[in-house]
Amino acid sequence: MRTLVELIAAKRDGHALTEAEIHHFVGAFIAGTLTDYQMTAFLMAVFFRGLDDAETVALTEAMLHSGSVVDLSRVAGTKVDKHSTGGVGDKVSICLAPLVAACGVPVPMVVGRGLGHTGGTVDKLEAIPGFRTDLTTVEFARIVGEVGTCIIGPNQEIAPADRLMYALRDVTGTVESIPLIVASILSKKLAEGIDGLVLDVKVGGGAFMKNETSARELASKLVAVGTRAGKQVVAWLTRMDAPLGVAVGNANEVREALGVLRGEGPADLVECTLTLGAEMLVLGRKASDAAQAMAILRKALADGSAARVMEKMIEAQSGNARVVERPSLIDVADCVVDVNAPRDGFITSVDAHEIGLVAVAMGAGRTRADGVIDPGVGLAIDAKPGRSVNQGQRVARLFVRERAVGEALAQRVAGAFRYGDVATPSPPLAFARITAEHVYRSCNADVMMGHRTQ
Ligand code: URA
Repeated sequence: MRTLVELIAAKRDGHALTEAEIHHFVGAFIAGTLTDYQMTAFLMAVFFRGLDDAETVALTEAMLHSGSVVDLSRVAGTKVDKHSTGGVGDKVSICLAPLVAACGVPVPMVVGRGLGHTGGTVDKLEAIPGFRTDLTTVEFARIVGEVGTCIIGPNQEIAPADRLMYALRDVTGTVESIPLIVASILSKKLAEGIDGLVLDVKVGGGAFMKNETSARELASKLVAVGTRAGKQVVAWLTRMDAPLGVAVGNANEVREALGVLRGEGPADLVECTLTLGAEMLVLGRKASDAAQAMAILRKALADGSAARVMEKMIEAQSGNARVVERPSLIDVADCVVDVNAPRDGFITSVDAHEIGLVAVAMGAGRTRADGVIDPGVGLAIDAKPGRSVNQGQRVARLFVRERAVGEALAQRVAGAFRYGDVATPSPPLAFARITAEHVYRSCNADVMMGHRTQ
């Protein structure tokens, strides 16, 4: 077998690695014989040279087997999770997991921390006083069984290789790589003990996939590798040009997600939650089609059952469940700096990538793997694309600890807004659905075709 350094050099030079070599490489990283800087060099080589389908499958499996697979065999029902490829203001998981669980589909969910300019569900949930995301897999399985859902971060047991590689990618410019994203997402998700998975592949300036072609490619690979692993997988492409919902940050995003469970919430956030939730109910065999699933989901919001599951989950994870009824118990920085419209007109776009970077600069995200975040800082995007505004009207707010910091960053937030004289209709948020059948039919299906029994 080639040495670890030879494997890095081989990838640097664009050569394929074998399955055994990839397993050996990831194994050495977990064992500590491959250093962080060697792994970072490898990640950068993959970023530029890519991985072929067989290598992507091997990397996913090596990362999956760096830990164990959660045993949910005692939890009745078809277990379904959802994963987003990451966006700005994307707090869907926080309202979706209890909503779908309230409809009878168990949702085991392992999520990540903020990555690059995008937020992470672990960081968001930790804004809830006392809430613990560092549970063992035994506690995780017990809570999924008792409550119907549990949301934790990656730990020593669940794809530990992803936790370590994710942290390195976050601070070394190696996030936006299709094979690395596929292996990262699926290694965590396949370790959860799920039967089905709904993927929200974000497309646009605020997403890692900036255009529809790359998003389709990512979605197809995710569906192909997930299906090959024996799971039912469906992907949606959803727009991420403007932040999702109003809130960006950690504490304020949790407050907004709790609003959805009380039947409130911005229209785009509710639409995204219901679209993905309907798919989960169909995969979980609680509805025969999307229309029936939507009706079930709306009922669970209206009768309070989704909010009750959220309370139970927070309590089971040691958090203060009273936040569901009183979101103001979650601390949000109280120094508020407004951003106002410079002219009359219509908002034509809000640059989600820039808003995400401002959130990181405020302290809502990390610039170093060991960085500490402030859960209370964030933004509200009060006027979204399509809205008409008058000069001087507030379009955004920054929630900061020090006014001077907010005033400096307010300029950048103002620059993220574009104005026009006519209203431009917003295209649908969720615009394409990709299933295993689509992938089989497409010419991108090498991974599945290669392993398919004819
Ligand atoms: N989400 C993940 O879990 N991993 C990635 O690499 C990107 C988004």
